[in-house]
Amino acid sequence: MNILVTGGAGYIGSHTVILLLQAGYRVIVYDNFCNASKESISRVKKIAGKEIITVEGDIRDKVQLRRLFSSHKIDAVIHFAGLKAVGESVEEPLRYYDNNVCGTVALCEVMAEHQCKSIIFSSSATVYGDPHTTPITEDFPTSATNPYGRSKLFIEEILRDLYVSDNTWKIVLLRYFNPVGAHPSGLIGEDPNGIPNNLMPFITQTAVGQRSCLSVFGDDYDTPDGTGVRDYIHVMDLANGHVKALVKLPEFNKVMTINLGTGTGYSVLDMVKAFEKASGREVPYCIAPRRAGDIAQCYADPGYAKEILGWEAGKGIDEMCADSWRWQEKNPNGYRK
Ligand code: NAD
Ligand code: WQD
Repeated sequence: MNILVTGGAGYIGSHTVILLLQAGYRVIVYDNFCNASKESISRVKKIAGKEIITVEGDIRDKVQLRRLFSSHKIDAVIHFAGLKAVGESVEEPLRYYDNNVCGTVALCEVMAEHQCKSIIFSSSATVYGDPHTTPITEDFPTSATNPYGRSKLFIEEILRDLYVSDNTWKIVLLRYFNPVGAHPSGLIGEDPNGIPNNLMPFITQTAVGQRSCLSVFGDDYDTPDGTGVRDYIHVMDLANGHVKALVKLPEFNKVMTINLGTGTGYSVLDMVKAFEKASGREVPYCIAPRRAGDIAQCYADPGYAKEILGWEAGKGIDEMCADSWRWQEKNPNGYRK
């Protein structure tokens, strides 16, 4: 089977491509490299020992997408391509809606023209807004507090409307919690541009000496130690969830909305301690004011993923930290030499 992976050069996409290749799928990566390096593709090929067709292009470019679908028979699409920085989305909402929403519409139009109607979409736990309680099940109310989150909500609704119009589509919406970790080889991992927004890359860059100190955003939340609690999930577990979803896709006769999380919440200070243990490095930190828009705690009920996909996360916090550290230590500047 031929799988088109949009955004396949990025963090989650590159890890998923490895598992797809290992499971025997042929992979075509389609990426405009706006937030990725071609080096990640070379390393994925090295890890998997297999070839990947890579096409540089934008999901909004229907001419190029048509060319791609005409020259390859594509059986299903795993759609990672998108912009994901929350703060940037507040400053540049139109760019986010154009890229994420218009890009997905363009992709689906070209898929339909070529009778390719199977798609797995990267949604996010951000669509739960500030949940009234935890753990979070898929039927919780949704809301968005920023344009990034709203772009995910819009796309979910667009894909549901598409299914209503034509129920031969096979659609899975995967709502990821907080992806961390890296491939155990240390060859690929998360490589954010500039100052990281997310906790784990900030911790690893502090440990490697690129940042002097981690700011812990708030210690007065209603959580066991006062710092924010999240459901960190190893990126290889997340990648495996996509392979499981792909296998089950033909059986689905409704749009499937599925949480991918571990079901366990860890605080910021839990993560710092676990990372220090895994790396043997100290992570200097100071308590800073709360970050606007943050919530106290967020973790998944992963029961539906287990029931429907037979999937559950297997890697714990120690492995997440050890693998994040191996990637950072071996590649202090990410994919840049
Ligand atoms: P990433 O930025 O590493 O990967 C996204 C990839 O898409 C990049 O390679 C980028 O170059 C590409 N891309 C962006 N816009 C494109 C366009 N118009 N055309 C073609 N390629 C384009 O991000 P990631 O962390 O791997 O996230 C993958 C997906 O998962 C995104 O849709 C993101 O919103 C979603 N997600 C991520 C997280 C997270 O914390 N990392 C959590 C929930 C959901
Ligand atoms: C985790 C915890 C912070 C950085 C974001 C997006 C969400 C999703 C995942 C895409 C929080 C604290 C962080 C720092 C800190 N992405 N923190 N110091 O906010 O749960 O989710 O990424 O869909 O949409 O909003 O993840 O890693 O930014 O923060 O104290 O320097 O770490 O306050 O409690 P978040 P995060």
